[in-house]
Amino acid sequence: MNGTMISNTLIDRLANARLVVAFTGAGVSAESGVATFRATDGLWSRFKPEELANVQAFLANPQMVWEWYQARRDVILNARPNPGHIAIAELEELVPKVSVITQNIDGLHAAAGSSEVIELHGTIRKNFCQSCGKRYDDDALLTVEDVQRCGCGGMIRPQVVWFGENLPEDAVTLAEERSIAASVFLSIGTSSVVYPAAGLPLIAREYGAYLVEVNPEETPLSHSMHETIRLASGEALPEIVARLRTLKSA
Ligand code: APR
Repeated sequence: MNGTMISNTLIDRLANARLVVAFTGAGVSAESGVATFRATDGLWSRFKPEELANVQAFLANPQMVWEWYQARRDVILNARPNPGHIAIAELEELVPKVSVITQNIDGLHAAAGSSEVIELHGTIRKNFCQSCGKRYDDDALLTVEDVQRCGCGGMIRPQVVWFGENLPEDAVTLAEERSIAASVFLSIGTSSVVYPAAGLPLIAREYGAYLVEVNPEETPLSHSMHETIRLASGEALPEIVARLRTLKSA
């Protein structure tokens, strides 16, 4: 089933679902004004990830990397959940369990009210010491201009998974468990090119989930989907929730 139509099959599957996974990427936050990475005007078209989003870059140019994250924090801390985030949170009223597995670091799913959010790539809202690992979870550092030193002398960095680093083990384990158990797996706003995250839809499909892609563009996983919805998430997700609500109230 391809195209922008939202099928009755999907709504029926959701109505009978035990567990729905919403797997999201930067596209779900685009309508909140947060730049994606690989769009034509995305972050990676203006900055080189290898110069910014990795430990070597941070150790070589801590102030530059810190300032880049502060600039992103400026946008993210002023961003609000959009109708796509809100629809995912509202889904919890209509199905027994919803699990959000996100690659995003902006915290907008939690802000929209989603109760289970698995942050595979960390969060821009917290920091830790690169040397001793001490966590700095409070907001104090989110607007500080200069990179700060920990009491141990190490440098403090955002709690974001950088290229070449491992994803948080507990997050990966739970994300795999939820993907295996999913009745419906919605892959929303992700280019599906960064592994291991991009492997989750395939795990879900292997264990029998109904696999749906919500993305205005094709991705390398489009051909693996049972259904593709070529719409923005802020348009498709509220419509899905509205149709499910109608079906359940009938
Ligand atoms: N609604 C749905 N999808 C959208 C929207 C929208 N309004 N706008 C853009 N998209 C889609 C784009 O078509 C694209 O496929 O969102 C996707 C965004 O892809 P990326 O920018 O590559 O973001 P993402 O998939 O989250 O990147 C994965 O790469 O750089 C790393 O760690 C970073 O978590 C990130 C990971």
